[in-house]
Amino acid sequence: MSDGNPDKNDSTEALIEALHSKRKKRSLIVNPDYLDDEKLPGEERSSVLKEIFNRNIREKQLSRIISHLSPVLDGDHPPSALIYGPTGSGKTVSLIHVLSTFGRVAERRKISFQFHYIDLTSPKTYFGALNEVAIALDGSSRKYRKGIPIEYMQEKIRAAIAGYKGFLCFLIDEADNILPNPDFFLTFLGKTLPRKVDCRLILIFLTNRLDWEKMLDPRILSFLKKTDIIFEPYDADDLLEILKLRSEKALRKDRVDLVALKKVAAYASRETGDARKAVELLAKAVCVAEETSGFLTEKEVDVAEQSLEVDKSTELINALASQQKIALQACYSLFRKGSSKVTTGQAYDVYTNICVNLKHRSLSQRRFSDMISFLDLYGLINARVVSMGRYGKTREIMCSLPDPIIKELI
Ligand SMILES: Nc1ncnc2c1ncn2[C@@H]1O[C@H](COP(=O)(O)OP(=O)(O)OP(=O)(O)O)[C@@H](O)[C@H]1O
Ligand SMILES: [Mg+2]
Repeated sequence: MSDGNPDKNDSTEALIEALHSKRKKRSLIVNPDYLDDEKLPGEERSSVLKEIFNRNIREKQLSRIISHLSPVLDGDHPPSALIYGPTGSGKTVSLIHVLSTFGRVAERRKISFQFHYIDLTSPKTYFGALNEVAIALDGSSRKYRKGIPIEYMQEKIRAAIAGYKGFLCFLIDEADNILPNPDFFLTFLGKTLPRKVDCRLILIFLTNRLDWEKMLDPRILSFLKKTDIIFEPYDADDLLEILKLRSEKALRKDRVDLVALKKVAAYASRETGDARKAVELLAKAVCVAEETSGFLTEKEVDVAEQSLEVDKSTELINALASQQKIALQACYSLFRKGSSKVTTGQAYDVYTNICVNLKHRSLSQRRFSDMISFLDLYGLINARVVSMGRYGKTREIMCSLPDPIIKELI
């Protein structure tokens, strides 16, 4: 079959072609990379971020980091830095941006400055963390195998920087992710290693846990001599700037309504000020627009916001254990029959019936009651304790899920 010409006899092929061309007509996206930079491999990601990283709105934070590092330009050694900020506040992207730019400035001044990004975004042991450092230093993606002695890894790292005499900066992302605790790792980087090599080490730690410092051994804090820098979450105006820059690069201008972007920014800032969420919502709204009208307006954003909510709850429900799922079904089948509030006792009766039908063993009412608390905790139902006077206390259960999910559940 030559491409582009569907086999007239195959209706499915024709359908695929038809839907594809229809979608193409409604297409909004010029360059999808600008809508999701985190999926891209390292090199590509930094070139994309170069275009869309909005440094203006992080100027305050960037200035703090730059003034912290500026002694390097005079050949002096700055202390380590610990950078706090909630998730999606741009710590990783800002630091990668500022350090690579700083490297270029230093180079112009004939000062040798290198930086390496140590990725601890997934939890690591002490060995795993050393492994990441070694990989970052030899520039390969080769992992050292488990079972190698720790001393060997330390020696590898020392050897990799042995001949170097300039400034060496380690950007340690999500530093709180070293299990069971980061003490050995920090002692090695902050105390052991600097004594064995000629270069001057600068450690920059990123974390979103304000209490991280409290978990560290006071001796470690004392030799790190760190400076703290805070990244505030973005507000709605900041998010709008980020989204504008992105939509200019990624989307067709004539099909995007500014009000839609404002709405995305408002939704995201209302929750946490997480730029990652804002970009995700934008991408979802674009998807909705491509499937329906071909224009990005407030309406598409609303639909996308709702569907994100649905996705989350559905995922949560799918992850429930089978007994919990049955308990949830019991509650919602009562709501479907018209009751707006049900008691634990009523729900328990329905629950035992379902268990009999499904040939599951049913749990005691007390255990059932625990499951109700659990479901309440996850926001899948609303439960509150009410007093029944001399009949004691009971719990009233109310519905909290939107209709499409309930339909799917029952
Ligand atoms: N100033 C900005 N300009 C453009 N995009 C941004 C900006 N800040 C953040 N983003 C977007 O938000 C995403 C998340 O940012 P980043 O990874 O830096 O957050 P973080 O603070 O490191 O969060 P975490 O603590 O979860 O790692 C980035 O991939 C980027 O797409
Ligand atoms: Mg990060």
